[in-house]
Amino acid sequence: MGGPYDHGVVNVRRMQSGDISAVIDIETEAFSSPWTEEIYVQLIDQSRVELIVLEEEKAGIIGYAVLWCILDQGELANMAVSPEFRRNGLGTYLMASVLETARDRGVKTMYLEVRDSNETAVELYRRFGFSDVGLRKGYYQDPKEDARMMKVVL
Ligand SMILES: CC(C)(COP(=O)(O)OP(=O)(O)OC[C@H]1O[C@@H](n2cnc3c(N)ncnc32)[C@H](O)[C@@H]1OP(=O)(O)O)[C@@H](O)C(=O)NCCC(=O)NCCS
Repeated sequence: MGGPYDHGVVNVRRMQSGDISAVIDIETEAFSSPWTEEIYVQLIDQSRVELIVLEEEKAGIIGYAVLWCILDQGELANMAVSPEFRRNGLGTYLMASVLETARDRGVKTMYLEVRDSNETAVELYRRFGFSDVGLRKGYYQDPKEDARMMKVVL
């Protein structure tokens, strides 16, 4: 499957343990409280977790997403694209893959939390039909900020 990025071929596939260090590099740049390598190592074999990577033919891993699935409920727990590859439609492509994976697993309702000020991500989620279901006051640290909770029925 080839993605929409027109400078090279991009694919989505399941994360493997050899991908984790590249994922951590993106994670560390993207978030002030990044998940650690140990977290990904623990998640990689769990049946309730779908770990998805975006791979560009020359650059290697350029994005990833983490989806929890519990019965018919899913949660987008994490997602990022490498800074130099952003604004090329790849986050959109990754999100479409996440939702397809969720549907394949029988997920009916997807949830997520996002920093209230993260307009790029919020807009992306809205385009996929997510709507606001509430705020978690002071949920994030560094800097302290509310979490916007969003939901979509698939
Ligand atoms: C959120 C994130 C994953 C989006 O990834 P992305 O690859 O830039 O996503 P897209 O390119 O599909 O869309 C992002 C924006 O780029 C715009 N865009 C896409 N292609 C474009 C192009 N060719 N030219 C100009 N703008 C473009 C989209 O319209 C969208 O803009 P909007 O938010 O103003 O509507 C990325 O910004 C990121 O990794 N951020 C840091 C981590 C993060 O915040 N993760 C989400 C919370 S967990």
